[in-house]
This record gives sequence, C-alpha cells and structure tokens, in this order.
Amino acid sequence: MPDIAVYPGTFDPITNGHLDIIDRASKHVATVIVAVSQNPSKAPLFSLEERVSIVEESVSPIKNVEVDSFEGLLVDYCMRRSARLVVKGLRAVSDFEYEMQMAQMNLRLADVDTLFMVANPSFSFLSSSIVKEVARFGGSIEGLVPAEAARRLKEKLDGEA
Ligand code: PNS
Repeated sequence: MPDIAVYPGTFDPITNGHLDIIDRASKHVATVIVAVSQNPSKAPLFSLEERVSIVEESVSPIKNVEVDSFEGLLVDYCMRRSARLVVKGLRAVSDFEYEMQMAQMNLRLADVDTLFMVANPSFSFLSSSIVKEVARFGGSIEGLVPAEAARRLKEKLDGEA
C-alpha cells in the first residue's frame, strides 16, 4: 500500500462527488493529499485561498487527509511531496480520454502512476461547473456539495447580484 496519494483538482468548489472519492481513497492509503491547483486558465469563481479553505472544512472529518495547493506541473508537486501516485475519479467515458492522456504524460514525465476510481453512480452527473450554474440561476444544490461549499457559493453569488 503506498504511503501517499495525491488527489489533484481545481475544486471550484469541491463537490460531494470529489468528497466521495477522497473518502474512499483514504481507506486505501496512509495519507491522501488533496492538492488544489491554482489553475488560472479556468478563471475560477473562488480564489485559491477560498477553495483551499472550503476543502479543508469539508474533509475535516476524515483523519488521514491533508489539504495543500500547487502551481505548475502536478508531477513537480508530486516530486516535492515524495508522492508517486495520483488518484483521479472517472464519472463517465467522456472523462476517460483526457484523463488517460494526462495520466500517460505524468507517467512519462516523472514515473508518477495514476489510480482511477469510478465515481459513485449517485454523483456521476455532478461537476463543479454544473453546480455553479444551477446555484447561479437559483436551483437547489442540496446534497450536491458539502455544507461549507453551499454556504460560500450562496455568499459569493449574493455578493455578485
Ligand atoms: O478538477 P480539474 O480541473 O479537472 O483538475 C485538473 C488538474 C488540475 C488536475 C490538471 O489540470 C493538472 O494536473 N494541472 C496541473 C498542470 C499539469 O501538470 N498539466 C499537465 C498534466 S499532463
């Protein structure tokens, strides 16, 4: 069993689908590091600091999870943390092609392996983008994101109005 697995993402914001993968991964490795990517190319709604703090609050009941952030290449971050394993969730076939490409590139760049976990079917339709869109137009996001993410989304979108 590897000591450390890195679960990277933009987490803008974290969803219950992400949380489910983190929780399940935490049962297979000693420590899961949730690595929040700066990812300016995606123009996130929440700042890096906000995304990190929402993730921290959301994973706090899971004991062997650490939250961090990174800029630049994921493999460079993995090397800094002495991690050789990345965990990713696959929701549907549509995720597969891009995830496979990234996994193969990470393997080539630094011999970092990727472990894919299938999404719980209850969350396979879920993405941060769809949650933001539903919330923006006043739809219910109950059960889709952790309580802290829902609270911060409401605060952010109310502030925009
Ligand atoms: O939640 P996301 O937005 O799907 O996460 C994508 C993320 C951040 C995991 C991916 O874009 C990434 O690894 N970015 C870091 C830059 C990098 O290493 N790019 C090359 C990957 S082969």
